[in-house]
Amino acid sequence: MTRIVTIVNQKGGVGKTTTAVNLAACLGALEKRVLLVDMDPQGNATSMSALTAPVSRTVYDMMGDPSLTAVYDTELPYLKVMPANRDLTGAEIELLDLEKREFVLRGILDRVKRKFDLIIIDSPPSLNILTVNNLAAADGLIVPIQCEYFALEGVSRILETIERIRPLNPHLAIDGIILTMYDKRVKLTFDVEQEVRRHFKKTVFETVIARNVKLSESPSFGKPIILYDIASTGARQYLALAEEYLKRIGKGGTGG
Ligand SMILES: Nc1ncnc2c1ncn2[C@@H]1O[C@H](COP(=O)(O)OP(=O)(O)OP(=O)(O)O)[C@@H](O)[C@H]1O
Ligand SMILES: [Mg+2]
Repeated sequence: MTRIVTIVNQKGGVGKTTTAVNLAACLGALEKRVLLVDMDPQGNATSMSALTAPVSRTVYDMMGDPSLTAVYDTELPYLKVMPANRDLTGAEIELLDLEKREFVLRGILDRVKRKFDLIIIDSPPSLNILTVNNLAAADGLIVPIQCEYFALEGVSRILETIERIRPLNPHLAIDGIILTMYDKRVKLTFDVEQEVRRHFKKTVFETVIARNVKLSESPSFGKPIILYDIASTGARQYLALAEEYLKRIGKGGTGG
């Protein structure tokens, strides 16, 4: 069984793409067959995932023509990518005219998912038809939150959104909340962590992702952190997150 998980938070700049790419890469390093799907027209996940060939087709092309596939190899043998670029902006408008417009991505993933243990989807920072597709296609969600003052508000907005789209996807679960850009020297980080853990209890991953300069450098090298600096705190923490996540969804161990 393939698990499809969307990384989502309507708030911008909270670490969605960093988490999507690095969690996908670490799950791949643990020998899970992973597909990373870029559903953000910014294409940041695409440019960070160490593709081995230039992109000529994207997820947008697959939306228009069901006979096409756009799945690319990366430097990690177990990680494949379905890329995006600015063309995807067009889909925001074009999809609105379609019947079953919310299920276009689900249809695409149905065609490829048997080849993968996990599919990780990166979402844009807004609630548009692309994000609705990401929520409708998913089995579970991972919500990155930055330890700052309005963090809880961001999570409440997602919970509202999930309830609104519930009729499209009754089984959608929250697989976990991950605290990002964590800085234990900052009192606000500590306060937000306390509050988030009190509110959401075991939904919050024990692993946290610290603010780490290597994580902010790796995108400019076009690589996930484990290919850029395997010894960094960022690499260690995303590997720990991958292991904790696999345990949580019952896919621990290799090959399972
Ligand atoms: N743990 C971290 N330590 C240091 N920098 C980080 C960390 N996580 C993310 N960043 C940096 O913060 C910025 C925002 O991160 P990212 O792009 O992952 O957020 P996002 O939620 O995907 O943003 P958007 O809403 O625009 O899609 C990026 O420059 C990224 O490199
Ligand atoms: Mg992003």
